[in-house]
Amino acid sequence: MVRSSFVLSLLASAGGFLSSEAKKLPEAKHLSGSYVVEFDDSQDASDFFKSIGSKAQTRMSFDSSIFKGVSIQFHDTETAEQEAAALAELASVKRVWPNRIYDLPKDNVVWTGKSKDASVANAVVKRQSSNDTFSPHLMTQVNKLRAKGVIGKGIKIGVIDTGIDYTHPALGGCFGPGCLVSYGYDIVGDDYDGFNTPVPDDDPYDGCAGHGSHVSGIIAAQANEYGFTGAAPGVTLGMYRVFGCTGSAANDVLIEAYLRAFKDGSNIITASIGGPSGWSEDPWAVVVSRIVDAGVPCTVSAGNEGAMGLFYASTASNGKRVTSVASIDNWVTPILLIDSFFSIDGAANETFGYVVGDPSGWAGVKLPLWTPNFDISDPAAGCSPYPADTPDLSDKIVLIRRGTCTFVEKATNAANAGAKYVLFYNNVPAGALGPSVSEVTAIKAVGMTTATQGEAWVKALAAGSEVVLDMVDPETAPVSLITADNTLTGGSASTFTTWNPTYEMDIKPQIASPGGNILSTYPQTLGSYAVISGTSMACPLVAGIYALIADVRGTFDPATLEALIASTANPRLYNAGSGTANVKAAVAQVGAGLVQAYDAAYATTLLSKSYLAFNDTDHLQKTLKFSVKNLGKSAVTYKLGSVGAATGYTFSDSIYPDQFPGLEVSDEYASIKLSSSSITVRPGASADVSVTVTPPKLDGARLPVYSGYITLNGTNGENLSLPYNGVVGSLHKTRVLDTGYLAISSDANLNPVNGNASFVLSKNPAADVTLPVAVALMAFGSPRISIKLLQVNGNKTKNLGDIFESPYDYASRDAYPAAFDGRLADGSYVPAGEYKFSIEALHIFGDAKKAKEWDVTESAPFAIRYGK
Ligand SMILES: *[C@@H]1O[C@H](CO)[C@@H](O)[C@H](O)[C@H]1NC(C)=O
Ligand SMILES: *[C@@H]1O[C@H](CO)[C@@H](O)[C@H](O)[C@H]1NC(C)=O
Ligand SMILES: *[C@@H]1O[C@H](CO)[C@@H](O)[C@H](O)[C@H]1NC(C)=O
Ligand SMILES: *[C@@H]1O[C@H](CO)[C@@H](O)[C@H](O)[C@H]1NC(C)=O
Ligand SMILES: *[C@@H]1O[C@H](CO)[C@@H](O)[C@H](O)[C@H]1NC(C)=O
Ligand SMILES: *[C@@H]1O[C@H](CO)[C@@H](O)[C@H](O)[C@H]1NC(C)=O
Ligand SMILES: *[C@@H]1O[C@H](CO)[C@@H](O)[C@H](O)[C@H]1NC(C)=O
Repeated sequence: MVRSSFVLSLLASAGGFLSSEAKKLPEAKHLSGSYVVEFDDSQDASDFFKSIGSKAQTRMSFDSSIFKGVSIQFHDTETAEQEAAALAELASVKRVWPNRIYDLPKDNVVWTGKSKDASVANAVVKRQSSNDTFSPHLMTQVNKLRAKGVIGKGIKIGVIDTGIDYTHPALGGCFGPGCLVSYGYDIVGDDYDGFNTPVPDDDPYDGCAGHGSHVSGIIAAQANEYGFTGAAPGVTLGMYRVFGCTGSAANDVLIEAYLRAFKDGSNIITASIGGPSGWSEDPWAVVVSRIVDAGVPCTVSAGNEGAMGLFYASTASNGKRVTSVASIDNWVTPILLIDSFFSIDGAANETFGYVVGDPSGWAGVKLPLWTPNFDISDPAAGCSPYPADTPDLSDKIVLIRRGTCTFVEKATNAANAGAKYVLFYNNVPAGALGPSVSEVTAIKAVGMTTATQGEAWVKALAAGSEVVLDMVDPETAPVSLITADNTLTGGSASTFTTWNPTYEMDIKPQIASPGGNILSTYPQTLGSYAVISGTSMACPLVAGIYALIADVRGTFDPATLEALIASTANPRLYNAGSGTANVKAAVAQVGAGLVQAYDAAYATTLLSKSYLAFNDTDHLQKTLKFSVKNLGKSAVTYKLGSVGAATGYTFSDSIYPDQFPGLEVSDEYASIKLSSSSITVRPGASADVSVTVTPPKLDGARLPVYSGYITLNGTNGENLSLPYNGVVGSLHKTRVLDTGYLAISSDANLNPVNGNASFVLSKNPAADVTLPVAVALMAFGSPRISIKLLQVNGNKTKNLGDIFESPYDYASRDAYPAAFDGRLADGSYVPAGEYKFSIEALHIFGDAKKAKEWDVTESAPFAIRYGK
């Protein structure tokens, strides 16, 4: 029996008050009055049902070898915590969790087929070729497996998502046995938003949300007019719909989906869903881990919170043995450009493409180009005020290279010389973006064209030519989808991909795959095709690759598949968005590196692990072992070595982790000693290698996370690598609580109250009264937040223990508010009087029984009395 954490029902974003760092923290969300309950296998659950009686309604029942239990909704959300606490004490109940809510990752929809007219489709169509030339497949060797006819034939992949438009011709056109989408279920219905009651039916069709159709196409799209297919078009898909048209999905819905996908015989299960966590103890993560233990590999996207810096793991990807997938940018960037016309020296007009900005008053503008600077490599073109002899620019379009100073500064300099129209050209090869200069009131229209186009015009102007642009109304102009080589970030980690490790130093993500700028199928109602960026797109490609490898090797064993993709993956160079550095990307960002499907499918070397976690200084695993198994037909000698990857500093001058880009990385590597520099392994045999680490000597207070790869070069031609990471310093000593304070429940922003607040509470839980709220602002994750009540008596205080809504387990970096209605954890009401909150957060790996292992802040005092 574990006394569990309880929901903090009053959850508001603490807007106006928070520091700039804390402001970026997302809201934690739970379904008020709803719990997920796990039953003890060995006990009869009748005491549980007797106990809830008519007080709660069962939302879902889980009766699986993986998880037995229910999710329930108390009718009275005010008393729900008390009731749930009582349930946790029952013999039949193993654990009670608040029913958490998850969002779809904030993927960036770059383009959909609904945008503008049909020329988009024409622009992108490639000749159908018998060879796979789709860039995400070229990047991951999927094309090489496809060339051998490997398509994942007959393998069942369960997808947990928003549903699917199976009527889409490229998604099979039908649902049911014999169709591409041959099984699945709608657990929620169109109208489900995460907070209302799911209305299930047996049809997982989605014509409104789109995400699941995109994800499914990445796995298994059939040949289509856009010239691509999914990675494994021979699989059959099961779709479990957990999102309605908009909104979120609750824990119980996700658990139900996984249990169904497992029961229906899925060989692989994938989900591009998550929420900030860093702990593997969330019930959804627990269920996914158990399904992996039962032999079904599960891939989950690592999350799109790269900006949050190190230690921001997302659940359920942070579950033990779950394959967490990071995102790599596509080699090519599809870009949507608005077409317009230009002519040089009065010649026949030609078409060019640009991205419109703000303001956008281009309609009917027909003016010659003028540029302040003929140097097409000037990093700061147009950043200085124009010289006094500059002509009046009111009848020109000013062409300026992007870079160094802001668009607004450049537009201001042009406007000071009379300009009304400004067209930027890009300073990087990939695409263009829409600049905003709306505060420069003299400017009527702005936009950006590609580097290639801008440079060509500047050369013409430098040669004395006249270039006249004839601008079509951007509202009605045709658009084209072009693809440009992404030489800047193609093949590098996407800036949005979430950084790890977990708060318990587990290595995540495991692997990376293309997720930035991915073309796939979309519901026909939403345009049929779309380009989207996110780890949501990276994850299903790895699920498809698992199917291809399983097709070749005849095994679904999760540990084997993960070890194969990890050892054969290609580590990446570090890229903070502005070009690659001469250091490998941190394992905490890209895991083993870019997945290489062909090498994984045919490798005859199998490592016993997919990573080595050295932990922190306090728990340093100085020496770790792995074994090398030779599955080939002749003896192989492996040359062993190691290579460092970027060390990332978690903190600089704040107790909040640094944001990315901006967090400091360095090439201060750990030193690695191997048990031997070369091993020879006979066919069918295994050999052990031990790896001894000496972490770099760095400032432990900044929690530098070091990483790298053990390398094995075999005489069989296989070059393998095994990722490792660890941290210098003590997670246990790291401060986790920024501060705690008193707020008032009627203030949606939960601003701190420093004066003498006084509250009139009610012992009737249904009464609508204003409550004192304890707010814990977390700078780092904590295994437990506890809100104690201190009775103030003159200069003395007496600690009365946890308030009713406390404690809260496995907190991420977030603001955690807990309202106080006069009750303590045991449900008893305290007398009227003066009190303070003691807001306490346990350190990572802390011993809850030791006072010094908690960060503690006392709130301002407040008075309570009871009204009617
Ligand atoms: C397909 O790939 C093979 C091997 O790389 C090559 O020889 C052949 O020319 C390609 N065919 C087409 C149509 O591109
Ligand atoms: C360029 O051609 C288009 C379509 O043929 C026409 O609408 C437009 O007026 C032309 N512009 C110029 C500058 O000739
Ligand atoms: C690191 O050490 C702590 C404390 O022993 C342990 O709980 C945790 O699981 C370890 N992490 C890993 C990845 O081994
Ligand atoms: C192993 O091969 C890689 C290239 O794949 C090379 O960079 C590395 O130096 C080799 N290691 C050893 C120990 O030969
Ligand atoms: C493996 O590494 C060796 C040594 O650097 C290199 O010669 C060989 O081409 C590599 N093989 C592969 C398949 O990358
Ligand atoms: C709270 O009230 C006490 C007594 O009325 C007073 O002495 C004290 O200054 C007040 N504190 C604040 C912060 O207003
Ligand atoms: C409370 O503390 C103040 C300052 O330390 C002291 O002057 C006062 O006598 C104390 N009051 C009581 C009731 O102990």
